[in-house]
Amino acid sequence: MEIENILKGAILSALREMDLSDCDFDLESGDQSGIHGDYATNAALLAFSKDKKNTTVKNPLELARKIIKILEREASLQGVIAKMEAAPPGFVNFYLSEEFYWHFLLEVFKRGDDFGRQSVGQGKTIVIDYSSPNVAKPFGVGHLRSTVIGQALYNIFSFLGYRVIGDNHLGDWGTQFGVLLFQIDQNKLDADKLTIEDLEKLYVSFHKRLDKEPQLQDEARSRFRRLESGEPKLKKIWQKLVDLSLTEYQRVYQLLGVEIDLCLGESFYQDKMALVLADAHKKNLIVKSQGALVIPLKDSLVPAMLVKSDGATTYLLRDLATIRYRVEKYNPELIIYEVGADHKLHFSQVFESAQKLGYIDRKKLVHVAHGMIRGRFGKLSTRAGKSVYLEKILTEAIDRAKQLAAQAGIAKSLPEGEQKEVAKKVGIGAVKYNDLKQNPKTNIVFDWEKILSLEGNSGPYLQYTYARARRIIEKEKPDLLKTPNYQPKNDELSIIRLICYFEKTIRQSAKNFSPNLIANHLYQIAQSYNTFYGRHRVLVKDQETRIFRLLLTAAVAQTLKNGLALLGIEAPEKM
Ligand code: ARG
Repeated sequence: MEIENILKGAILSALREMDLSDCDFDLESGDQSGIHGDYATNAALLAFSKDKKNTTVKNPLELARKIIKILEREASLQGVIAKMEAAPPGFVNFYLSEEFYWHFLLEVFKRGDDFGRQSVGQGKTIVIDYSSPNVAKPFGVGHLRSTVIGQALYNIFSFLGYRVIGDNHLGDWGTQFGVLLFQIDQNKLDADKLTIEDLEKLYVSFHKRLDKEPQLQDEARSRFRRLESGEPKLKKIWQKLVDLSLTEYQRVYQLLGVEIDLCLGESFYQDKMALVLADAHKKNLIVKSQGALVIPLKDSLVPAMLVKSDGATTYLLRDLATIRYRVEKYNPELIIYEVGADHKLHFSQVFESAQKLGYIDRKKLVHVAHGMIRGRFGKLSTRAGKSVYLEKILTEAIDRAKQLAAQAGIAKSLPEGEQKEVAKKVGIGAVKYNDLKQNPKTNIVFDWEKILSLEGNSGPYLQYTYARARRIIEKEKPDLLKTPNYQPKNDELSIIRLICYFEKTIRQSAKNFSPNLIANHLYQIAQSYNTFYGRHRVLVKDQETRIFRLLLTAAVAQTLKNGLALLGIEAPEKM
């Protein structure tokens, strides 16, 4: 059982033994140095202020001492705790024992790829809406963050025991298809022969013409209306555009190693939008405003437009139909939208409307609202203002990883096929890590130098630390049968503490929708291990030390591997 549960259980039974209430106490992990213990609780402080009348003690510090007296007798703590102390104004600090550390390292080793897996989410379902590129355009770098952060959140919640449904809410419906259908028609193009670049060009040239010929707008509108009413000829062309785009996207997803459970794009809700309109009418929420149908929202928000004055349905209406569908089908605890901050207003409107419609409690809807990604010298876009193709960035990352390997002499002893595999894992991992190490809310910078660096907080640095740890235990497997008679040094203790806090970090990163908490935790582990490695040897003569350090190294490797897997980053066994 996880150490935190053992400690919490023991504290709880001590409180009960003293007839104190089960105050909602915290158990905080200490810092890496362990100066104030490995864990601390404020139970005495809370219990004292809650039960003042019932206690015979004068202050919380005294209560803390009394609690310690009881805990000293507690069976579940025998061998686990080396020392407890009461600290002003009334904390109890716990120091874990060497025996515990040893058992813990063994536990990490035994649980292997499952170390860190938990069951807090058992029986609960979460839907994550992520990636969601817009069809008939190349997969641009603008959808990188949603894809990478969304996938990490998916992995994290799954590891915590939730049933997670990933849904790629493809932008495959809407007025922009009216534009394309018009362009294809006017230029007498064969939809079978078009490439995705052609489609983007058609879109751009339409908007150029629009300045001088505003009547073209009506042409596009009427095409979309005909598409919405189900005209077979137009639907056939539309389907081709969707298929063409999906084939393109598949290559990007393959490079990224991302697979999304569902791909229910906006078009999936064509026949479900009427249900929302009916619900809204029934609840008297709809107002006609200049020919459009809207739901007025609270004063600070622009009303939610469901149907435009020309009768076309809106993106917002489709999002409401999506919520209705997801609630009915999955009854989720939470729906997470991993979408950029530019969608803030949109989701405020969607969430507010969904609440009014009675579909779901607004608190169960989360918009991650990630920041922008910029190049080192400004916005990441081509000169014509077009999006930067993600596929190009990813292949460049792999090429750069090859160069880095050549310079640093990495993987040079591996057969060529394996070298290629390593370059792919390093290149792709580096791009993902650059994104995931930062708080999703912040704007991030895309700087090749930092992304593909073997030093500092980078993907390659973590992968390299992992591969080196693997190399050591490859030479000599840790001996699991002996308990070494060894007193860990501070360097070693601080690594164990970090590994010990890994499980909690996973929960925190889920709670805050912040994979960066895991990324930075891994970085700390790698740094501590490398500091240790710089000062000490693992394969020393002294058997007791050697046994201990081998197992420590194995635990570091396992934690890095599991953590990177949560981030969607592969760790090469050899580098
Ligand atoms: N396709 C949209 C865009 O790229 C993002 C969709 C986000 N998800 C949603 N349910 N609206 O701008």
